[in-house]
Amino acid sequence: MPRLLPATPESIAIAAAALRDGQLVAFPTETVYGLGGSTLDPAAIARIYGLKGRPRDNPLIAHVLDADAARRLIQPWDSRMQQLAEAFWPGALTIVGTKAEGVPIEATGGRTTIAVRSPSHPIARALLELFGGPVSAPSANRSGHVSPTTAAHVEDDFASHTDLIVLDAGAAPVGIESTVIDLSVRDRAVLLRPGSISREAIEEVIGPVEAPHFESQQAGPGTTRSHYAPRTPAELMAHDALLKRMSRIPTEETWIVLALREDVQAARPHRVIMMPNRAEAYAARLYSALREADNFRATRILIEEPDARDGMWPSILDRLQRATA
Ligand code: TXA
Ligand code: MG
Repeated sequence: MPRLLPATPESIAIAAAALRDGQLVAFPTETVYGLGGSTLDPAAIARIYGLKGRPRDNPLIAHVLDADAARRLIQPWDSRMQQLAEAFWPGALTIVGTKAEGVPIEATGGRTTIAVRSPSHPIARALLELFGGPVSAPSANRSGHVSPTTAAHVEDDFASHTDLIVLDAGAAPVGIESTVIDLSVRDRAVLLRPGSISREAIEEVIGPVEAPHFESQQAGPGTTRSHYAPRTPAELMAHDALLKRMSRIPTEETWIVLALREDVQAARPHRVIMMPNRAEAYAARLYSALREADNFRATRILIEEPDARDGMWPSILDRLQRATA
């Protein structure tokens, strides 16, 4: 099992020393847990890809303390980037720009662009401060699996890695990955991944933002439809359709249902997980619920589709669609 350490000043110091030594550290951010290594150390970056089983061409997000540090990774750092950093950093917004000279190409999956974000989680910030440099970190899950929102999730995915340090600071408060916006082309802004910071909120700062181009060449592999998937076949459906399906569950199947309304019920051996009705609470619960559903070893996961489309719901729906693609 990995080394789960409560996120105390002592363990953060151990983690920072491990990063300096070229090792990897799993750490909490406000969105999900990340699997970090030094951005400037190609050997550490190679370890991240190896451990996750991540395709080499899927680029990583570099984590920094502030816009000044971001400017050393993205060049040119334009006024839109500065405005977005001032509006949303530290926080769940990732900015893609042209990679500065001197940043190893390994850290960007071979691309000439780099994704950068400044996390708000106090433990992530303490780690960055003590380490003193940028930390590249994808979500700390095995490639293709659901992102981890607790240290125990990280432990589950990397059970055989006894030397991996995991800083444990409880559940990640946001629960879904950061919004990713591509500003690498002048006069264009493209949303690559929706997140807790909405497209509308970004547009208020920098003007029109193009919708994601799923499956296109320019979008990252993370924007392909099925990426955040549980292992059990999962289906998304509206409330009425769900009730209808549940009235005739095939006898050889065991279902686990992520429900929103009280009238969605199922007797044993089936199970219902009641999901929160508030978007923020739903997002914070989603990945742990998907992992629970997976571990329940049902034959099928059914998810009640939320009706709401305001606030964070479109980003939640995006993850639900990926999980059920
Ligand atoms: O909330 C988050 O962003 C978490 C925490 C740990 O910060 N990290 C995360 O990383 O979700 P990851 O690797 O699981 O997702 C990064 C996403 C991927 O979809 C990747 O393709 C995209 O960002 N990305 C990274 N660099 C890119 C680049 N240069 N151009 C386009 N997309 C990029
Ligand atoms: Mg990921």
